[in-house]
Amino acid sequence: MEKEDVLCSVRKYVYEQFSSDPTGHDYYHMKRVAHWAKEIALDEEADPYTAELAGWLHDVGDTKLYDDTEAAYRELIDFLTSLEVEAQKRRELLTIIKSISFSKGQIPATIEGKIVQDADRLDAIGAVGIARTFAFGGMRNQLIYDEAADSLTSIQHFYDKLLKLSDGMYTRRAQIEANQRHAFMENYLNQFYSEWNSAERAGE
Ligand code: ADP
Ligand code: NI
Repeated sequence: MEKEDVLCSVRKYVYEQFSSDPTGHDYYHMKRVAHWAKEIALDEEADPYTAELAGWLHDVGDTKLYDDTEAAYRELIDFLTSLEVEAQKRRELLTIIKSISFSKGQIPATIEGKIVQDADRLDAIGAVGIARTFAFGGMRNQLIYDEAADSLTSIQHFYDKLLKLSDGMYTRRAQIEANQRHAFMENYLNQFYSEWNSAERAGE
């Protein structure tokens, strides 16, 4: 199969698996990660085809989203085989998929893996990252914010993870984008506290 045909089939596969996900891991998350992975790969002179494919597929089998991770991987391998993706490429993709999640704390071995991790981390910060955080927090029954700060809230997640991500980018292109998104999150938090505290300032 031609590369374009493989990508087209993979897009449909991902759409079927993720189109109704309400936790921030929806089809459009995969689309943005695939897009950024390809852009960064072109900038890094890495393999844009592998980066884009792995971007589309990077959340397949994630334990947060799948009851049976091994079954999801087996199904993916069968699907890639049906698209005539060769064995070495299938292994490469699976290795990237298994290693990119920042919650798993691994550093991907290949440049394409590092690129997909950067693209995934970019989508966790900035305006879209903020939206995904509150969506995820709602799904987990977390509060938006708690002044007592003794429970895990979505605002707390900014400090636990989101504000640390821009320090961990591997690639130049992702670093430039991350700096801008990081600054936006800092502005967002300032505005958030200003609005949150307005009742207090009014003495209510
Ligand atoms: P991955 O992108 O590898 O799936 P995560 O599941 O940790 O990594 O993150 C997915 C999205 O959910 C991100 O936008 C992240 O900020 C958000 N998220 C993860 N944990 C929390 C949490 N405790 N509260 C709010 N948002 C969270
Ligand atoms: Ni992801």
